[in-house]
Amino acid sequence: MTEQTPVLRLEGIVKTFPGVRALDGVSLTLLPGEVHALMGENGAGKSTLMKVLGGIYQPDEGQIIVDEQPVVMSGPLEAKAKGIVFIHQELSLATELSVAENIYLGELPRKRFGLVDWAQLEANTNKILKKLNVGFNAKTRVGSLSIANQQMVEIARALTVDAKAVIFDEPTASLTDAEKVVLFEVIADLQSQGVGIAYISHRMEEIFKITDRISVLRDGQYQGTVNAAETDEEGVTQMMIGRKLDLSRNESHHELGEVAIEVRGLSCGNLYHDVSFEVRRGEVVGFYGLVGAGRTEIAETLFGLRNPSAGTILMNGEEVTIQSPADAIARGISLVPEDRKGQGLVLGMNCRDNMTLPQVGDLTAGPFVSDGAEVAIFDQYRDKLDIRTPGWRQTVGNLSGGNQQKIVIGKWLSMHPNVLIVDEPTRGIDVGSKSEIHNLIRELAAQGYAVIVVSSEMPEVLHVSDRIVAMYMGRIIRTFTSEEVTEDNLIQAISGIEGGKVA
Ligand SMILES: Nc1ncnc2c1ncn2[C@@H]1O[C@H](COP(=O)(O)OP(=O)(O)OP(=O)(O)O)[C@@H](O)[C@H]1O
Ligand SMILES: [Mg+2]
Repeated sequence: MTEQTPVLRLEGIVKTFPGVRALDGVSLTLLPGEVHALMGENGAGKSTLMKVLGGIYQPDEGQIIVDEQPVVMSGPLEAKAKGIVFIHQELSLATELSVAENIYLGELPRKRFGLVDWAQLEANTNKILKKLNVGFNAKTRVGSLSIANQQMVEIARALTVDAKAVIFDEPTASLTDAEKVVLFEVIADLQSQGVGIAYISHRMEEIFKITDRISVLRDGQYQGTVNAAETDEEGVTQMMIGRKLDLSRNESHHELGEVAIEVRGLSCGNLYHDVSFEVRRGEVVGFYGLVGAGRTEIAETLFGLRNPSAGTILMNGEEVTIQSPADAIARGISLVPEDRKGQGLVLGMNCRDNMTLPQVGDLTAGPFVSDGAEVAIFDQYRDKLDIRTPGWRQTVGNLSGGNQQKIVIGKWLSMHPNVLIVDEPTRGIDVGSKSEIHNLIRELAAQGYAVIVVSSEMPEVLHVSDRIVAMYMGRIIRTFTSEEVTEDNLIQAISGIEGGKVA
């Protein structure tokens, strides 16, 4: 094989923030037509490196070389002009504007006298949307779209440019399986046109499916680049965290206590129907199913975000009404939501205040919030969850994506709930922290918490659950004990193949 001329090179990139050396002399080469994975723990520097490349941050040291020429990326528009397109981890869309306006923001097609050519705009947009096979159109307001569809708008925006390189920063974190298939087709298409693709994800199966080479960062330092075909999950994990992980199935057992929460014949419009289950103290019950099976909606009902249309909820044997999150919190129910950006964090606030937000009332000493108590809570969960931040004063918006998620998890754990519901607990979390969070969930159960885990990752539900509730189209198909469950019977249940006995 002849040496290919790289699309771009990064050389010796250094980037520091107050208290953090985010990148410590990182070099990387992107070849035309390759999918190049960038991996590393939460806070390793992946997004920062890509933001340097995309002109969002200026490096303190080092060079970016495009077409063998050193360049300065003065800003995102300049990067785009040089053919470098960035699809962000944090969605950066204007929610009040239409899909078309978002896609062509700053570059709207104009008629004479500078008037926007709406017909042209709509036609251009719909052409791209057709390629992506999405269920919305140019005129749809972005704010009305699901997170997954907003992600598709970001992707559509990338396709308007004659790109040399496209950077995807955790694009699949909130996509359904069907949407992922479309995304991978888009990537293959770009690849065949010789576009170099940088791809960040914590999902190993995806990495090995679509990427050609894998580069690893650890604490801002470059660890090396390997061919995907010549390594495996264990090899990459070792490079990322410098040790091996124990990924064996949960075998720990402890005594279960009384029923903490029970649901009888619960329904909610056409979202789910006639759902009944119970969770005991000390028990972890996993809810598994495809997107749209109704799992998140059940979680939201228990937390008072939705009102059921029929059925009852009982706690400690008594019927309860939960009409708002405040009701739920008062009864000791906590929810770590799926969409942490929208429902979990105040990005402009510091780490400590975000974590202790729901319990400020309890920590108040006279008219003042007791600072020491709050810091102590923060410190405890920072250590437990291995949250990487220079200190509690750091603004949450400045933390890496995965570390932001850990703050939300810490926030709800620190309330010592009776019933803890976690929806997609490890989305966007690196492999090392993932197993820490799994251990923590088991530990909480051992301490007597009743835990509900909603997850679309099969290894995760298998790993943490004592029982698994399999859902299909708003109904519980079957409840498995950890002894009964296998990957096969679980897949059958959630695909509606197995009628099974209704739990
Ligand atoms: N604007 C900023 N201000 C201060 N610190 C920052 C800023 N952006 C990033 N950092 C810090 O730089 C480090 C690297 O963050 P980065 O977002 O690049 O991590 P990452 O590898 O993308 O992690 P994740 O997998 O969680 O997304 C982290 O310690 C983060 O807190
Ligand atoms: Mg990141």
